[in-house]
Amino acid sequence: MSGSRVKAAIGAAVVALAVGVAGGAGVIAQTEDSRDEAARQPARGQSDRDIERRVNRLLSRMTLQEKLQQVTLRPDFMVTEDDVRNGLGAVLSETRPARIRELQEIAVEESRLGIPLLFAFDTIHGFRTIFPIPLGTGASFDPEVAFEDAKYGARESAAVGLKQTYAPMVDVSHEPRWGRIAEAAGEDPFLNSVLAVARVRGTQGSDYSDEEKLVASPKHLVAYGEPEAGRDYNTTDLSEQRLRNLYLPPFKAAVKAGADTAMCSFNAINGVPGCGNHYTMTEILKREWGFDGFIESDWTAVAELRACPPRNPDAGECGHGVAADGPAAAALAFNAGVDSEMTSTFMRDFGAQLISQGLVSMSRLNDAVRRILRVKFRAGLFENPYAPYEPAEAEAQMLRPDAVEAARRAAGRSMVLLQNEGSVLPFDPAKSTAVIGPLARNQHDMLGPWWGRGEDRDVVTVFDGIDEQNTAPTTYAEGCKLSNTEVPHTDPEGCGSDAGFAEAVAVAQAADQVVLALGETREMSGEANARSKIDLPGLQEELIRRIRAANPGKPIAVVLFNGRPLGLEDIVNDAPAILEAWFPGVQAGPAVADVVFGKVNPGGKLPVSFPYRVGQVPIYYNHEPTGRPCNKEIKWNSQHRDIPSCDPLFVFGHGLSYTTFEVSNLSLSSSSVSRRGSLTASVNVTNTGSRRGDEVVQLYINDPVASISQPVRRLRGFERVTLDPGQSRTVTFRLDSSDFGFYDNRGRFVVEPGRIDVYAGNSSKADLMQSFTVR
Ligand code: BGC
Repeated sequence: MSGSRVKAAIGAAVVALAVGVAGGAGVIAQTEDSRDEAARQPARGQSDRDIERRVNRLLSRMTLQEKLQQVTLRPDFMVTEDDVRNGLGAVLSETRPARIRELQEIAVEESRLGIPLLFAFDTIHGFRTIFPIPLGTGASFDPEVAFEDAKYGARESAAVGLKQTYAPMVDVSHEPRWGRIAEAAGEDPFLNSVLAVARVRGTQGSDYSDEEKLVASPKHLVAYGEPEAGRDYNTTDLSEQRLRNLYLPPFKAAVKAGADTAMCSFNAINGVPGCGNHYTMTEILKREWGFDGFIESDWTAVAELRACPPRNPDAGECGHGVAADGPAAAALAFNAGVDSEMTSTFMRDFGAQLISQGLVSMSRLNDAVRRILRVKFRAGLFENPYAPYEPAEAEAQMLRPDAVEAARRAAGRSMVLLQNEGSVLPFDPAKSTAVIGPLARNQHDMLGPWWGRGEDRDVVTVFDGIDEQNTAPTTYAEGCKLSNTEVPHTDPEGCGSDAGFAEAVAVAQAADQVVLALGETREMSGEANARSKIDLPGLQEELIRRIRAANPGKPIAVVLFNGRPLGLEDIVNDAPAILEAWFPGVQAGPAVADVVFGKVNPGGKLPVSFPYRVGQVPIYYNHEPTGRPCNKEIKWNSQHRDIPSCDPLFVFGHGLSYTTFEVSNLSLSSSSVSRRGSLTASVNVTNTGSRRGDEVVQLYINDPVASISQPVRRLRGFERVTLDPGQSRTVTFRLDSSDFGFYDNRGRFVVEPGRIDVYAGNSSKADLMQSFTVR
């Protein structure tokens, strides 16, 4: 993607976050947001009006049963050919090109109306060419990385006949225990919004009927990222202002960028389950934001609206207890705004009964079907129901060199240098290097959770990547084995024995420098994989200590692979260099070697706080203030007495480089601005070291006096710049009401008069400050 397209992606995010201005005493009410018209071009030249005509004509020919099939979405292992003949709407997780072709032929040729199926899949960070997990992409602070990930994921998916992806996942989260924090861009709504826009653009292009494009589905509406105790699917209770200021913005940005489908979430907020929530699905998404695509439920989420049978609380597909039985669950989902039911079939099974009883209106059913058909027409499925390749040719579209190269670039740009005492890194590629640890020669885990159709054999290991670039000998010891169990309670972590440590120590002693490849397995994060501890699993910390003790003064770098923020307090003093590599994908080895040997100068930044330990959770940079702000010098304030700092161990936005930068001269274009006006903030950044490198310039604001307490900082701009030694650049950010306004607890967007403080720097601790006044 060219520089201008990157800019466009950022620009679109800014547009997406902007709200209209309607006036009023100190309050600017939100106006109706229209879609960003440039976001989606007419599908294959058909105007929206043409498409509506075709939708209505087709709808008028459909029987009730055909409509109820159309709102039904079945997984690969449940779909029957008879369903398809009867007019089934969509299939998920079928990715075999020959089977997709076969089912589509049945839909097109043997169903009465020939309506094509929509084939969907979770292409989350690549289909076959697996990119870093999205939390890693978040660390790149680079929309181009997200764009390329989505672009190649869409190309490979479309090649087998898929036309929808359940991505981007845009759930802002403060919960490192939650395994799904791996799937989005971390704790900040602005960063998540910018990257969501880039992902939608990469997935859909400007016309998703294109043969390399898919329709995107931001998920999970909404606030799925804050389950209590970090346990997946768990309850969330939150204020209106948090809902709108923290969790909804990335959805809004994705929708304004053209995302034409969306998925409702498993979790309940304030007692209302995501797929039974009229307020979020119908009032906000469809009405307020003008979303005219369709909402699919999450997997059996409609069935889960039911109460479980008495004395059988884990009967399966039940539990929320907001519907007495299947028909009531279907009615609730339909009426709340679900248009397509995934896996369970209550809307299909009970729809006719509900309509005859007047519990669901025909116009609601027609609306759901219309939305689905609209997306199918826009996707060009009626003209081109089949994949662009013959099934046998699809394989040749996988792992193409441009995609693999992009995955390597993405992995390198996602890595975060957490610490680098005495400039231990980069290592010298002419010196012997020991690569030690349970993840050193590992293919499986490098793919991370949601590996699409990635295969372990596609991965270049860390050992092989290092060996390839090392001109001196590369040696290996495993140290211990981590657990890949899918049955969580049996052996949740692994690395429980130090039997292999003596060999690891000996291998380290014989080498000039040591890379320790440590972390989690891919089974430890992702869906339904919460951890109650967030430090390095098993005895890995002990492995670091033993190797350090036996090799005083030797260059040692810990490279971490993980799907969540880790609590690293017990290793920071034993590991001179710590490089956070996340789960980097198929090019793990080459990308790690690029950074370890300095071919790539790390420039990633943490998209999420890394606490000292789990007891500090939740901790996030954009928290509200308290009446007793944390102060380690005195008592009677908001702090943990057994944690030496008010901050997490590594703060949001933190990341080092092999060079140094100075951010200076923050200046504002104006000292005051009207509520409808805008101003710019400019700041200089200089590479003050001796290597070319990247810095992410970050701009935060704070509204110190407002009708409701405002976060101590809010990220409102960032730009990743590459500078040669001695080179400077001025980076300019635009600020308007979408930045200095906020949602109140009545759901109104307000822009209040008063001072706004602007901070600039290279982390959330940025300390350059200027202020302006909103008049
Ligand atoms: C997940 C979704 C996913 C769906 C289909 C669910 O369990 O929560 O994120 O899209 O499965 O695979």
